[in-house]
Amino acid sequence: MTDFSNRITELFGIKYPIIQAGMIWASGWRLASAVSNAGGLGIIGAGSMYPETLREHIRKCRAATDRPFGVNLPLLYPDIGAHIDIIMEEKVPVVFTSAGNPKTWTSILKGHGMVVVHVVSSSKFAVKAEEAGCDAVVAEGFEAGGHNGREETTSLVLIPAVVGAVKIPVIAAGGIVTGRQMFAVMALGASGAQFGTRFVASEESSSHDRFKQLVTTLKEGDTRLVLKQLTPVRLVRNGFYDQVSAAELKGATEGELADLLGRGRSKKGMFEGDLEEGELEIGQAAALLDGILPAGRIVEIIWSGFTEALANPLKLF
Ligand SMILES: Cc1cc2nc3c(=O)[nH]c(=O)nc-3n(C[C@H](O)[C@H](O)[C@H](O)COP(=O)(O)O)c2cc1C
Repeated sequence: MTDFSNRITELFGIKYPIIQAGMIWASGWRLASAVSNAGGLGIIGAGSMYPETLREHIRKCRAATDRPFGVNLPLLYPDIGAHIDIIMEEKVPVVFTSAGNPKTWTSILKGHGMVVVHVVSSSKFAVKAEEAGCDAVVAEGFEAGGHNGREETTSLVLIPAVVGAVKIPVIAAGGIVTGRQMFAVMALGASGAQFGTRFVASEESSSHDRFKQLVTTLKEGDTRLVLKQLTPVRLVRNGFYDQVSAAELKGATEGELADLLGRGRSKKGMFEGDLEEGELEIGQAAALLDGILPAGRIVEIIWSGFTEALANPLKLF
């Protein structure tokens, strides 16, 4: 298929409705610009960046692509005000917000001409995002890597629920790594798909090589949603996971779990490559990956898988 256009490609001004998720310790300017150059939407993950680091990544991304790109902003981040200022000063075209209330910032960002998308894990929050003025929502299911909803709603249930609850376009996320899966979520009414885990295992991802290699060897059942009392997060079952699950079994308090997590756990795991003591965020769909590839090639493979599925919807793998 040469030309494809829908509400998501039009909203962002991109070729394919393929969104690379903003991810701490994985998606800097190299990954984001490679995805945008390939026709998807690349997103810089601001959550692991100091404000001035974010500015540097935005500028480098802009120098590396003339296509639209975005920034992902977890709203609970302590430096949120400084991040918002930088995004506005640098005139970033698209902002994906997550982990917080979209009411606070959406109208300010939209007042500066930005397209604003909020990540949700329930139809209730999708409606709140729509009421706050968001242009689209990401519906992120239980399978997803990283922080996740408490409701544990799987993508298969969440996507049609959110599509039925809002009028703005819905981007599906959680468990999607192939073009045929993207076809499946679009058959459920999504207008595009966001890929996190798939792009962690890319050449341009800034994660540590040991982490990327590990991701490509994971099997079904090798990740778990933990820290549900604190903020639920899907992690690889490693030494740190064992400590957390033992503490949870013993009925650890929120404070004890926060102490166990400490500071810098995710950096230690995903950026510094400590596979035992670090926090390793990745989704269930790591079990479907077969290698580390250049990000542009990943976009091509997803798109050809999608178009093939569109032509032969009932053909099995
Ligand atoms: C390593 C990693 C880091 C992530 N960091 C963030 C983040 O900083 N902000 C955010 O909104 N989501 C974050 N996520 C979630 C992704 O944005 C995305 O929604 C999710 O990965 C989609 O599910 P998938 O992993 O099955 O593709 C992260 C996911 C991973 C795997």
